[in-house]
Amino acid sequence: MYRVISPGRVNLIGEHTDYTFGYVMPMAVNLYTVIEGEKSEVVELYSEHFNERKTFELDSFQKENSWVDYVKGIYKVLFDAGFRPRGIKGRISGNLPIGAGLSSSASFELGIMQFLNEAYNLGIPRKDMALLAQKAENEFVGVPCGIMDQFVIALGKEGHAMFIDTETLHYEYIHLPKDMQVLVFYTGIKRELASSAYVDRKRMAEKILKRIGKKSSKEVIERDLRGLPGIYKKRFAYIIRENERVLKAKEALKKGDIEKFGKILTEAHWDIAENYGVSCGELDFFVRKVVKLGAYGARLTGAGFGGTAIAIVDKEKAEEIAEKILREYTKVFNWKARYFLVEASDGVRMI
Ligand code: GLA
Repeated sequence: MYRVISPGRVNLIGEHTDYTFGYVMPMAVNLYTVIEGEKSEVVELYSEHFNERKTFELDSFQKENSWVDYVKGIYKVLFDAGFRPRGIKGRISGNLPIGAGLSSSASFELGIMQFLNEAYNLGIPRKDMALLAQKAENEFVGVPCGIMDQFVIALGKEGHAMFIDTETLHYEYIHLPKDMQVLVFYTGIKRELASSAYVDRKRMAEKILKRIGKKSSKEVIERDLRGLPGIYKKRFAYIIRENERVLKAKEALKKGDIEKFGKILTEAHWDIAENYGVSCGELDFFVRKVVKLGAYGARLTGAGFGGTAIAIVDKEKAEEIAEKILREYTKVFNWKARYFLVEASDGVRMI
């Protein structure tokens, strides 16, 4: 019997920067996808969340627009890379909310990958697991995401955030101050990453990089944007500032300066909201209110357009602030909203 737990993630800062090979600083969180099972000749999986059993053979991988596509996608990229794992018979469960903006899909993909890696001795290093999972998501599932989610789910470390240069894939573990609590707030609004707005932002950013002849947003300065249409300038200038903020936020965390760190996050939220156009009324409401309630800072996390936000709060006041904001939010908006007081977790692993 094999048992894998695979964390979700929140991004502390560095939003919509990974698809232009900029900086990000996410952490893996202690909310998990759990995969338990045995080796088998075919794949036979039961999903507790969907209350559904799916079976397929390993001779061809047809997409069927269901949760099982994540499994098929992992098999497909592994087979394409020359690996030949056999099947799994098992079940999927866990406490990571699905479709809430906490990267449940990357968590599931890495969980399957880890299971196969272990059960069939594939010997795939963690960095490669992340790249293969991203490939499955991009090419099989059809979501054009960057590398952030898969990377931190593969390589996350308890008690630490990860600073990642998404161009070189160089990374650094940043120790989180003991009295700092990350409050994760699900707005109750599910979001589809495949949704056109994410794709539009990505296409535009790629087009700009191509026009100015640079590979990574890290190398772009505002002056390079001269002559571009106004909306292009506005969007890309945000990315330039966000990269700079990730560096500053990292330094603040290293010094244990939670107050400064929080301020940088809030500034990042209003910048992405005003200039990158991926926030919404619910996320803005949360950020404004939770800061008033005493959070050091807050921002949307992940792709935006609903999903999840985070707030940085004092450990001792965390529960009280969380309860208050939930009450205020649900009075006005979605009753499906929930919060989680999370800790930074290790990456995907066997237990
Ligand atoms: C999603 C993608 C990531 C990243 C974020 C935005 O989570 O999967 O690669 O682009 O959106 O920062």
